[in-house]
Amino acid sequence: MSTAIMEKPMANPLREGLVDGRRPQPFTLVIFGAAGDLAHRKLFPALYNLMLDRLLPAHFNIVGLARHPYSDQEFRKEIEESIRHYSRRPWDAGEFSRFADEIHYVTANFDDAEAYRQLAAILQGIADRTHMPQNHLFYMATPPSFYPIIAQNLGAAGLNKPKQESDWVRIIVEKPFGRDLASAQDLNNDLHQVFDERQIFRIDHYLGKETVQNILVFRFANGIFEPLWNHQYIDHVQITVAESLGVEGRGSYYDNAGAIRDMVQNHMLQLVSLMAMEPPVAFEADAVRDEKVKVLRAIRPFSTRDISEYTVRGQYESGFIDGSPVPGFLDEPDIASDSRTDTFVAMRLLIDNWRWAGVPFYLRTGKRLAKRATEIAVQFKTAPHRFFSQTATPELEPNVLTLKIQPDEGIALRFGAKVPGPVVRIRTVNMEFLYGTSFADAAPEAYERLLLDAMIGDSTLFTRKDEVESAWTLVTSILNGWARAKNPIPTYESGSWGPQEAEQLIARDGFRWRRP
Ligand code: BG6
Repeated sequence: MSTAIMEKPMANPLREGLVDGRRPQPFTLVIFGAAGDLAHRKLFPALYNLMLDRLLPAHFNIVGLARHPYSDQEFRKEIEESIRHYSRRPWDAGEFSRFADEIHYVTANFDDAEAYRQLAAILQGIADRTHMPQNHLFYMATPPSFYPIIAQNLGAAGLNKPKQESDWVRIIVEKPFGRDLASAQDLNNDLHQVFDERQIFRIDHYLGKETVQNILVFRFANGIFEPLWNHQYIDHVQITVAESLGVEGRGSYYDNAGAIRDMVQNHMLQLVSLMAMEPPVAFEADAVRDEKVKVLRAIRPFSTRDISEYTVRGQYESGFIDGSPVPGFLDEPDIASDSRTDTFVAMRLLIDNWRWAGVPFYLRTGKRLAKRATEIAVQFKTAPHRFFSQTATPELEPNVLTLKIQPDEGIALRFGAKVPGPVVRIRTVNMEFLYGTSFADAAPEAYERLLLDAMIGDSTLFTRKDEVESAWTLVTSILNGWARAKNPIPTYESGSWGPQEAEQLIARDGFRWRRP
């Protein structure tokens, strides 16, 4: 049985103009890597949608930099194409013309000081023409090897500091942020040579997802769940981030990363932090991030034995996705034929603190799994005494609260209900909230929210230096353990739920993975 809780659909408060005070001051967005995939798929469409929602100021400019030689006109055409292709809202030539006039392009090598002099001249030209404040948002959408050199050159050109006290300069840094603890620390040091921590916005796009932000609202804006949110009532937590896609043309990046760097270090540990953190003293950037870091620090370090017993990696072989044959990882373009890269990871985490002592958190993520599904399932302990007879409850399962992050966004609670009739028989039923039925408008894309927050200067949904380093501390210890182990990497068929070893990992504790 599935019982949808129906509510009157609510309109989008952004469009209703209810969010005054969340409109940025005039600014110029400078995108390094503006000819690349991220800019085309995510950044330009996000800006366009923010503009349609009337969330951008009347005056803003965009400067793109990349090696590709475009004229301003050609670059505008590129942006138009990407909006037509990827925008959540339909194309509107009239609206775009407002946006298009503000776009400039610089053909640049990122290590060439001349490009930064040109950029400085363009920014000065904009300031002279518009008499607007010189607020600058730099976006690093390049391969990560360029991040230090871009930061250094911005510093050398004097573009890292606001011109006046009332102006601001910020920098958004894309993932991957390092490939282990040492490289993440190096990158933090490089950025800190030029920018203050409060100017640095490290992106994790999961934090921009509506359903991920709702974790904190669900926990802390409701009185009924938080008293149960601890080791006394919660048996264990399962976090699944399953993808049916493969590496999708990103072979050379992915073969150097693997699922643990690509998904666990950032997105999954963020989900763990939000689920496990204590209530912050205020809903404000540092207060929230202080609590998230405490969770990461409380995760029990993995001993060598824990790594072999409580982490599993896997690599996909060929198989079928939605009925169509797909190649194995080793046959994908740009993957080394003897690659030992993980395309699947499962692990058990223990959080050694007062709230979570003894409650296992099971994490799994993988490419080419049976379906795309991201969810967090909280399984509660069973009732302390069963006074209904065993025969009355043959199907009764523990209560599970599931936060469905994507694609069927919602929250479900599973509980036992009496089957109508003259005898007591109990069956498991589901109570569900679905975003799609309760809220009329489609949720904005994660990048819309994150770009807007960076323009406003709110870093609550961005990761702080110590947060990123704590996550890497854990992940690097696992990577080192895997590097020492010479055993073959388990494989799984594309379209399955991962290797057998992952089933054994959770079965050892007496549980089973859910099938989302
Ligand atoms: C990215 C990873 O950060 O997240 C990709 O690099 C992955 O490999 C993607 O596919 C998943 O994001 P989403 O929003 O589709 O769940």
